[in-house]
Amino acid sequence: MKLGRLNHVGVATRSIADSVVHYRETMGASIVGEPFDLPAQGVKVCFIDTPNSQIELIEPLGDNSPVMKFLEKNPLGGQHHVCFEVEDIEAARAHFEKIGKRILGPTRTGAHGTPIFFLHPKDMEGVLTEIMESPQQAH
Ligand code: CO
Repeated sequence: MKLGRLNHVGVATRSIADSVVHYRETMGASIVGEPFDLPAQGVKVCFIDTPNSQIELIEPLGDNSPVMKFLEKNPLGGQHHVCFEVEDIEAARAHFEKIGKRILGPTRTGAHGTPIFFLHPKDMEGVLTEIMESPQQAH
């Protein structure tokens, strides 16, 4: 297991459209992706670029969205998870399993089209942690 770059910080919101206005007008963001649905995860997603990372806005998609529960506890929305890259997702998963960290569900395809999984915040210093295989860079 080797910790890679911080890929993004996930931020829950009731409205991606409203949050995009906030990041553009209040925070001065200029690079904002197109929102898209991730039905398998029950979320709509939109990435805001910062010079060294990204904010992943996540809005509930459907009534069973896990983000809906988060918004019930945190009506204003807010920081939901952090996502770190690793070179080898299977090796990372084996590492966390070996040391007894609870993994939430199977490894699946994340918002960047690479494999991801989530780790239980109670085993991760209170932080819901997403582990993502680094996208292959074109050479
Ligand atoms: Co994420």
